[in-house]
Amino acid sequence: MIPLALARIAQVTGGRLHGDPSAVVSGEVVIDSRQVSAGGLFAAVAGERADGHDFAAAAVAAGATAVLATRPVQAPSVLVADVPGALAALARFVVDALPAVRVAGITGSSGKTSTKDLAAQLVERLGPTIAPAGSYNNEFGHPLTVLHADASTRYLVLELSARGVGHIAHLCRVAPPRYGVVLNVGHAHAGEFGGLDQVTLAKGELAEALPPDGVAILNADDPRVLAMAARTQARVVTFGVQDPGASVRAADVRLDDLGRPSFTLLTPGGSAPVTLRLHGAHNVPNALAAAALAGELGLGVAGQADGLSAAVARSRWRMEVHRRADGVTVINDAYNANPESVRAAIDALAHLARDGRGFAVLGHMAELGDTSRISHEDIGEFAARVGGSSGAGLAGLIAVGEEAAPLLAGARRVRSWPGEALAVPDGEAALDVLANRLKPGDVVLVKASRAAGLEGLAADLLKEADR
Ligand SMILES: Nc1ncnc2c1ncn2[C@@H]1O[C@H](COP(=O)(O)OP(=O)(O)O)[C@@H](O)[C@H]1O
Ligand SMILES: [Mg+2]
Repeated sequence: MIPLALARIAQVTGGRLHGDPSAVVSGEVVIDSRQVSAGGLFAAVAGERADGHDFAAAAVAAGATAVLATRPVQAPSVLVADVPGALAALARFVVDALPAVRVAGITGSSGKTSTKDLAAQLVERLGPTIAPAGSYNNEFGHPLTVLHADASTRYLVLELSARGVGHIAHLCRVAPPRYGVVLNVGHAHAGEFGGLDQVTLAKGELAEALPPDGVAILNADDPRVLAMAARTQARVVTFGVQDPGASVRAADVRLDDLGRPSFTLLTPGGSAPVTLRLHGAHNVPNALAAAALAGELGLGVAGQADGLSAAVARSRWRMEVHRRADGVTVINDAYNANPESVRAAIDALAHLARDGRGFAVLGHMAELGDTSRISHEDIGEFAARVGGSSGAGLAGLIAVGEEAAPLLAGARRVRSWPGEALAVPDGEAALDVLANRLKPGDVVLVKASRAAGLEGLAADLLKEADR
């Protein structure tokens, strides 16, 4: 962060100072007391399990200059009415103090983190870039990310998430983006939003926030996203795999035997070959979005293509593909799940397992609201259709937990699918079922919402091979 005296922090946040007004915060701003570093600021937040205020003194003992808190603590502090509001004010102050920093925001229902990580690895070729691994996309993570910026920073590549209308507009006030990427409108959190029209309204707030000299980078393949062109003053640049009219496109998309796409990147500035190290065809639009953003920031097509081909997965549990010593392949995609991302993962499974047997171990998709049951049935049907009458690509569907059970009803609608569909209560039971079935050459996909906690199952599956 840029060095700020406590007096300034109190002024910017409208807080009350307890301590030396000239003491300077020069280190990181964190909400986890274990991450406190020398000269940093510890923001105390009351969570479900612990209250940060209890760690105020420890944070200062560990080197923090002060604590941002909502009630008195035994440490130098700035007392504010609400911590996220204070972090937002501080982040906005820092952005305004650094006019040379170019701010890009990325939103969408699926693929924000993957695209942000790809884009960061391209934009880093242009200059110092802030874009931490992981999601950091909400009222806490977003300002904390912005606060990493200092005088050396040239680019901020930010992930913007929403669980309701107004959230993205708020994040865009915290760090006004000049570049905005909208990936897609899907069912993630659709229950909380109250339907896809509301999701569209919310994601389009990024397009609305862009200034006339900004650039809106929109997915031409998603009609709801493309229509956001009418909601922005910014210049519009499109990307798409299907739409031949998109400015940034992919031709000759192929997947290798582990599902890694290669394609020719077509841009207004020329074309170049790309071979991604990420798995799954859904990463092609993500890569195009990242290339379009980097291109607008000044990276040439050769740099875009080289950067995409060199880019690695920076954030965990998203389509991690591991081959066990016994020849079983495990796809760990247990970070989150919604109808679009489960379909993408099943497609990837079917590709990897096209010459063998695929098993989809699916937990429930959370936060779908009224459509939850129907959505699970539809995914079950989709999976069985992918398996087809030969069962190639999908030999088994294992629904983990009660809420995932409607997957099976959906799969049974596809009478021609010869595969096995069964329900198990938890990850351990899924492991037992798989242990009796897996043979060399098989491929297992593990996917669920984080709430289902299936990332442990994927880890156990990988251990299994070493027994
Ligand atoms: N463009 C996409 N379309 C559909 N599904 C996707 C896309 N990109 C990623 N996914 C799926 O969503 C999961 C989460 O990806 P992530 O990049 O973390 O998205 P987000 O940050 O939006 O939650 C991935 O593991 C993958 O299964
Ligand atoms: Mg994310």
